[in-house]
Amino acid sequence: MANSLFRKKSIERILRESEKENAHHNGLNKVLGVRDLTFLGIAAVVGAGIFSTIGNASYNGGPGISLLFVITAVTCGFSSLCYAEFASRVPVAGSAYTYSYVAFGELIAWIIGWALILEYAIGNIVVAISWSGYFNNLLVHVFHIHLPDWMLVDPQTATAAFKTATQALAGTESLTPEMRSSYDFAIQAYHNAPMIGGSHIFFNLPAFIIVALITWVAYIGIKESKNMANFMVIFKIAVIIFVIIAGAFFVDTNNWKPFMPNGFEGVLKGVSAVFYAYIGFDAISTTAEECKNPQRDMPRGMIYSLIICTVLYILIALVLTGIENYSAFKDVNDPLAFVFEHRAPWIEKIVSISAVVATTSVLLVFQIGQPRIWMSMSRDGLLPKQFKKIHPKYHTPSFSTLVTGVIVGLGALFIESGLVTDLTSIGTLFAFVLVSGGVLFLPRLVKEKGKFQLPYINGQYIIPLLVILFIFVSRGRMVDAVNNISNEGYQEVLFLLYILLASLISVFTFMKKYSFIPVMGVLSCMYLMIEIPSVSWLWFFVWMGLGLTIYFLYGYRNSVLAKEGKA
Ligand code: ALA
Repeated sequence: MANSLFRKKSIERILRESEKENAHHNGLNKVLGVRDLTFLGIAAVVGAGIFSTIGNASYNGGPGISLLFVITAVTCGFSSLCYAEFASRVPVAGSAYTYSYVAFGELIAWIIGWALILEYAIGNIVVAISWSGYFNNLLVHVFHIHLPDWMLVDPQTATAAFKTATQALAGTESLTPEMRSSYDFAIQAYHNAPMIGGSHIFFNLPAFIIVALITWVAYIGIKESKNMANFMVIFKIAVIIFVIIAGAFFVDTNNWKPFMPNGFEGVLKGVSAVFYAYIGFDAISTTAEECKNPQRDMPRGMIYSLIICTVLYILIALVLTGIENYSAFKDVNDPLAFVFEHRAPWIEKIVSISAVVATTSVLLVFQIGQPRIWMSMSRDGLLPKQFKKIHPKYHTPSFSTLVTGVIVGLGALFIESGLVTDLTSIGTLFAFVLVSGGVLFLPRLVKEKGKFQLPYINGQYIIPLLVILFIFVSRGRMVDAVNNISNEGYQEVLFLLYILLASLISVFTFMKKYSFIPVMGVLSCMYLMIEIPSVSWLWFFVWMGLGLTIYFLYGYRNSVLAKEGKA
């Protein structure tokens, strides 16, 4: 059984199969060049993260959050180079799923395919909810249209707000007029909701509608999707550059002191939000079969989009925390618009429009990515045949696209976004770890002109040295963790586990002379993973447990490799 769980596919075989699938007229359309890929990358990256979730991260970390943008960029940089290596060697649509099939075999590939649902489909639920928030902002402030509150929010958020408001108003603490009015508002919104069977009804209708529209664009063609993405990227990048330049005039450098008001620990609280802001450059690897020259353009597209986004993010983080003191960002979900609210309301409006456009483009690329991964899994027999069906007229994976639309749409209607952000970040980091680690298992090749190749840098000495340095710098935390395991819970256990794994990896690197870049990809992504709250880990394991159950009930028996083995 162990052998069959780790049955692998060779690169040659995967390439042969994808050529066969695309050979007849019903294949995917090859229309993407390096500029389109870079734009698709930026389209997927710049969205809810920079427009929404970094508000709270800035509150916790202060201006030091810009440092986290640098650290995360370096981490993503290592992984993106590893993605680029795989994309150049295995230019087919499955992204990390297919790469793991080559490097680690079927079981790990399935696990990664399942984790990628967290990145794409579940991640898109967060983006759709964020889109809805900005869209409503636009309706109210620009068009003076007020939708009923019960069709703008999920049930958990509305009920929690109602409970908090009721308790606060009944309590003895003195409340400011603004707090009182926001609590009154939450209570009124709760009572205004229609009721069915004794329960108040809430759902996020705009989030559902945008998912339906985007699913339709993804369904009707990659060319249409590309044109729409290109337009949105130009618009959002122009606005972000404008915000950086205009914002620079409002910066008060006193706000940058202290740089890390809550220490490095406060900065690290933003890991999930900041990492979330970077997710997406890898999504373009799912379009490999729609590229004109994937082996040359795919790696470039990924790396260019990551570099452009990193520069913009660091500047935005500095401008944001320079305009307003970090303490003002508590629970602020629209930080870029917020800093201009009183200073330059017309800029606030531009930002709100651009946030809607930016999040729409993220939705689009993720809504394109998920079906292509399912299509690859279905080709391998791990999912039913319908998932690989290509539309005869539109040349897109039609059934998978529709299923993605239904899952994301329903999720966006009813789910609360906080937990889902963490889950998305864990799922993606998990994929990054395996893609980076997977590169170590690829045979070394002679450099070919026009193809990307990851440079080999011997990590034999530098990796162990870096790990020793890391252990030395974190010795205080290690001692605290050992002393307080029972009080501080799983987070500290994760930290100790990390130290153990990092030490083991450095021993292997020393013995096997592993390449520096992939090992750093593994170590740095694992480090970001352990900083994500343990409650999200619990959900992650529940999710993975469900995935494994499905694999053993379906994929293990129906896998193409399994059937060949029996034949
Ligand atoms: N990076 C994407 C965003 O921030 C997921 O919306």
